[in-house]
Amino acid sequence: PPRLDGVPVVGSSLSIMRDALAFTEAARERGDVVAYEAFGADMAAVFDPEVVEQVLVSRSDEFRKGELDREFGDRIAPDGVVFTEGERWRRQRTVLQSWFTPDRIEAYADSMVAEAAALADGWDDGDIVDVGDPLSTFTLRVLTKTLFDLEFDDERAATVRRATRALSTYASPRGFALRTILPSWIPTPAEPAYERAMADLDALVSRLVAQRREAEANGGDLLSLLARAEYPDGTRMDPETVRDQLVTLLVAGHETSATALTFACWYLAGDDAVRECLERELEAVCDDRDPTIADLPALEYTDAIVDETLRLYPPVTDLYREAVETTTLGGYRISEGTTLQLSVYGIHRDERWWDAPETFRPSRWLEDCDRPEYAYFPFGGGPRHCLGMRFARVELKLALAALARRLEFERVTDSLSPSAGLTLDPGTVELR
Ligand code: HEM
Repeated sequence: PPRLDGVPVVGSSLSIMRDALAFTEAARERGDVVAYEAFGADMAAVFDPEVVEQVLVSRSDEFRKGELDREFGDRIAPDGVVFTEGERWRRQRTVLQSWFTPDRIEAYADSMVAEAAALADGWDDGDIVDVGDPLSTFTLRVLTKTLFDLEFDDERAATVRRATRALSTYASPRGFALRTILPSWIPTPAEPAYERAMADLDALVSRLVAQRREAEANGGDLLSLLARAEYPDGTRMDPETVRDQLVTLLVAGHETSATALTFACWYLAGDDAVRECLERELEAVCDDRDPTIADLPALEYTDAIVDETLRLYPPVTDLYREAVETTTLGGYRISEGTTLQLSVYGIHRDERWWDAPETFRPSRWLEDCDRPEYAYFPFGGGPRHCLGMRFARVELKLALAALARRLEFERVTDSLSPSAGLTLDPGTVELR
């Protein structure tokens, strides 16, 4: 494939460290599959939806999660379902999947609305709020209440948030690049804060499991099942695996949704046309009450706001896969061990598939349009697509509707400057 040349030894790591999103856009200029070197590995950025389909779906057995995911997994939850492979992954995914069925998600809807209402009611008229933290507390509260039947107070939420943000200093393009450039014996400035944050998260998770084990030996929620360390067929899951699933769900399930909500709220605050269309729809469908799960099919514009937010600001900007053997993709030879960077961000902003790609325009989702299926893949695809996809979509729609009914935001932060962290980082977003 065409190549982006970096500098000797560290390849493109320096450019990625400076601005990973700009690097991705520069790579897209060079072609649909673009080779480069970074993080001490041979990389290939992919901007072709057909190739994405092959890697994630039709030829998925030729690829596995790559070194970057393993390194990230080792730091947080090596045996968590996001990181495992083969039979081990399949078994874990089957257990967890039973907590994300349409019936279960329907049962979570009321909690999602109630939490959003409580969040909105906690803000006074005229308050200037940096919405990132409150929205991430909101998504954590929803997650822990619905899946684990657990009330998460601000302190517990802050513990998970601190650990997630600390992880971002390692498990992000910038973090990986920094580690490539600095010799491994030099601690990065974040190391002590990182160790503390992870130790606090571990202590919290152990406490939760121990409490649940004592309190409700037969509880029916996911935390009880995990606390009993049992697969549904009665076989045992070892304690490390239990811990890793909990940590994985806490981290994978909150920052992603919170990021999306943060971007969506910023548009509601500053884009009158979007706000008016949403209000009109809510009035027509829900009149003077909060939405329920039964209203969701009729909330088409709300759905379009969610789709458009996840297009322009995909919380997971890239998926990484490693070629198990030397192979061909998009007409190019890809050597064994090459890490493919499937660029969600790059493909979502490509004018071949999107008219005026940089413009936030939810109504595009209400028009007919012919584009390849994998021109849009904020939740990945194939067997390892996001386990929480349906959960997240219902949560985002209900939360947007419940917040919009109660609040009229104005922008204080007047422009966004997102950067690539563990998830796409919106930076400070202050609203009034
Ligand atoms: C996997 C995105 C919310 C749990 C993924 C993947 C993506 C993604 C792109 C695939 C990663 C890959 O193939 O390398 C998102 C986005 C979300 C979101 C954009 C919100 C807007 C959630 C929620 C949960 C969750 C709410 C749980 C409650 C998971 C899990 C996996 C996963 C467990 C790993 C699945 C596997 O490997 O089998 N997510 N996610 N996600 N997500 Fe999400």
